[in-house]
Parts: sequence; structure tokens; C-alpha cells
Amino acid sequence: MDAHAPNSTSEGSFVTLEKLVSLCKRRGFIFQSAEIYGGVTGLYDNGPLGTLMKQNIRNLWKQSLNHLEQDVVYIDGALIGPEAMWKASGHISNFHDPMVDCMVCKHRYRADDINLEKPCPHCGNKQWTAVRDFNLMFTTQVGANTGQSTTAYLRPETAQVVFVNFKNVMTSSRAKIPFGIAQIGKAFRNEITPKQFLFRMREFEQMELEWFCKPSESNDFYNFLMLQRMMFMHAIGITKERLRLHAHAQGELSHYSRGTSDIEYHFSFGWKELEGIAHRGDYDLTQHMEHSGKDLKVYDEETKESYTPHVVECSVGVDRLFLTLLFDAYYEDTVEGETRTVLRLHPAIAPITVAILPLTKKQHDLAHPLYKKLKLANYSVEYDVSGSIGKRYRRQDEIGTPACITVDFDTPTDNMVTLRHRDSTKQERISIDDITKRLDELLKISFLG
Ligand code: GAP
Repeated sequence: MDAHAPNSTSEGSFVTLEKLVSLCKRRGFIFQSAEIYGGVTGLYDNGPLGTLMKQNIRNLWKQSLNHLEQDVVYIDGALIGPEAMWKASGHISNFHDPMVDCMVCKHRYRADDINLEKPCPHCGNKQWTAVRDFNLMFTTQVGANTGQSTTAYLRPETAQVVFVNFKNVMTSSRAKIPFGIAQIGKAFRNEITPKQFLFRMREFEQMELEWFCKPSESNDFYNFLMLQRMMFMHAIGITKERLRLHAHAQGELSHYSRGTSDIEYHFSFGWKELEGIAHRGDYDLTQHMEHSGKDLKVYDEETKESYTPHVVECSVGVDRLFLTLLFDAYYEDTVEGETRTVLRLHPAIAPITVAILPLTKKQHDLAHPLYKKLKLANYSVEYDVSGSIGKRYRRQDEIGTPACITVDFDTPTDNMVTLRHRDSTKQERISIDDITKRLDELLKISFLG
């Protein structure tokens, strides 16, 4: 079975975001949140297929961390954090974007998104306010009594919850440096201009790995993890030529960083950050020690001294990666004289692995038990009985299903089915008994480069 066929899209032939947005809605990947009330910019809901595909992304990310030599443990922390924590992390004073308003039409922009020498793209006038800093954190009040409630913040990154739990995790799990604490969860940023669909959202999900190591080893781990993360992007099928590493110049670094490299992807709107790998040094643990008064140092048995570990962070957005995968996998080609849309997703990423298609309703009694059997064996499987077989294939192509299995008139006598491959559209007869073996081959993935 041919797995993920090499992506042959030439540079420049990009799918438009409009087409992706439309496919996502039509097929149930992503919906604008609260759409029936007009929606809220920057907020989206996952539909049935989006939910399945994001679960695959999370699982593969976790699987890739299993290949690291040292252990990674997971936490799942609170979404709301106290003001003191965000003061210590530097987010209250540093986590802002430059904002500017058009004085005529009141349109608001991120100042680094537009050219202030030019007129307002919305109304054509050139009367700008001064550029101000806008803090991106969402505030909330904790506590029911007015006057006694305290201000708290929705986390703008998952990382801080890891740092404040560093000692708890180390002592409870008996982990030894070097090791990683990973977390997958929501983050919230009141972006001034959410845009490009899932690229810049106000509520999104991050997968973050915080790698704790000795200061003397941190540069090596920084370089090592950068390569590991790039290998992950290749493994899940993203076109190599559309990925690159971009090292931040000194002036570009975030307040906590000693060095950052982004894995960038070439979207239709330019090379953009997909994942950030940052050498955070001892910034976060030192800040939390100073602000909380708690000791977060570790004791080195060899040198008999305490030290503050360094942290290397790998941080990627689930939604941004999801958008990248769709963007990269989208093709329109011609099959039997007809244009088809096909998502050439890696089979392990595709929301549905296999579709069971009885040729006509007459094969239902044989096809449906096969569907049930595969479902109970935990394959992601869909059953579709209505419409012409050609139309049903197109539908599966459009959602990226790598394998379609057709049960036909001969199946009751020869125990064989037709396996149709998404990318090549080639068909072959295989025994029903071989189906799971073939699906397992298809789902194989290697993170080892
Ligand atoms: N803890 C470090 C951190 O949060 P970041 O570069 O601000 O660093 C990391 O974010 C990743 O999170 C980005 O590379 C991107 O994949 C994702 N991300 C950040 N802001 C986002 C947004 N507004 N919408 C969607 N994804 C976002």
C-alpha cells in the first residue's frame, strides 16, 4: 500500500484560506464559534473531523517525546492564574503588542502589521493615534463577593503552570535532571487583530515541553531539541521545502529568552512561525523564586551544590499545526476527467483512516459488521452507503481518508474486498483477513528522521 505520497505541489501554488475555511465548515473540521449569533473574531469550535484530527496531532506529539532518551512527565494545570504569578513571569509588564488606531474610522491595528506612512487600509485617511502598548492577557475576577474578589488572568501560555509546579513534580515523580515536563492545553490571548483563520486566534491550544537541565548542558539540548522538533514536522508529512529554521536576532528575543529559533512554514501569506524553540535559561525559576520566596533549586549529588536548572522550551500551537497540515495537504487534481479535492494527510493524521463502502445496499449485511469490527478494534472508521461509489470516494478524498474499502458482489464468495488508495486512486483486491494488517502498515510513522 502506498502511504503518504510525496507532496509535489510547486512553490507558489497555494490553496487560498477561503477555500480551506469553506472545506473546514462543509466537512465539519472547524466552525466559527457561536456562528448563529454572528460569531466572535478569533474564536473557533472543532467539528467532528477537527476533533478527531486534533486528537491525532496530540497523540503523535506525545509519541514523538517517547523517543527522547530521558523521561517526560505530563501535567494538566489550571487555566486561570493569580496576578502574582503573572507579575513574576514578566507577562504583566512585557506581554503586549504595539497598537494604533485610525482617528477617523476608529479601526484598530497592530502597529507592526501595517505601514504607518501609508493611509488606513480601511478608510483611506492618514490620521493615526500614537502607538501604545496593549497587554494581551484576559483578566477575570476570582471570588463571589464584590469588593473581595481578586484579579486573575487566563494563561497566555501553558509554560508558567509548569514552572510553578516544578518542585511538586520533581519530588512527587522522583524525576532526575535532565527531564521534561510537558503539557497540552488551552491558552488565551486577546489578540488585537486575530487573523488568517486559525493562525492567530484568541483562544487556542498549545503543546509545550519544558526541558530542565544543568546550565552546562543547556546549549547542547537547545540544538538537539531544535533538530528533534524539525524531524517531527517531517515525520507527520509536512513538505520539507516549506519548512525552515529561523534564529531570532538579539533584538527579536522575548523577555525570557537567551536564544530562540522558530520552525517556520511557508504559507500563502509568507514564512510564519509554526513552533518556537527557546533557551529560557534560569529566567523563569529565578523569577518565581524571587517573587514567591520558595526555593526551586535542585541539589547536585556530584558537586554537592544547589543550582537553578536551565530550561529549553519547545512550544507549538495545536491549531496552528492543524492549519499547517491542512494547508500543506490540500490538492486539486484531475481523476477520470473530473477535478477532485484531496487532502494528502499522513494516514496517522487523517481524521478517518478507513471508509467502509458497500457497493450497493445489498452488501450492507456483510459491510456493516466489518465496519463495527474495525471500530471496536479502535480504528477511525466511517460507514457510507448512499450515493454513487465515485461520489463517495470524492467525499473521502476531500477529508483525507487514506483507504476506502468496497464490499461488492463477489465478497460473499471470495472473502475479498477492494482497497482503494486515496493518493494514487489505485485499487487492489485484498482478503478481508488482511485488512487490519494493511491499515497498521499505513498508520506507521517514524520520528527518527
Ligand atoms: N511559551 C512560549 C510561547 O508561548 P509563543 O511563540 O508566543 O511562545 C508558541 O507561542 C506557539 O503557540 C506558536 O509558535 C504558535 O504555534 C502558537 N500560538 C501563539 N499564539 C497563537 C495564537 N494567537 N493563535 C494560534 N496559535 C498561537
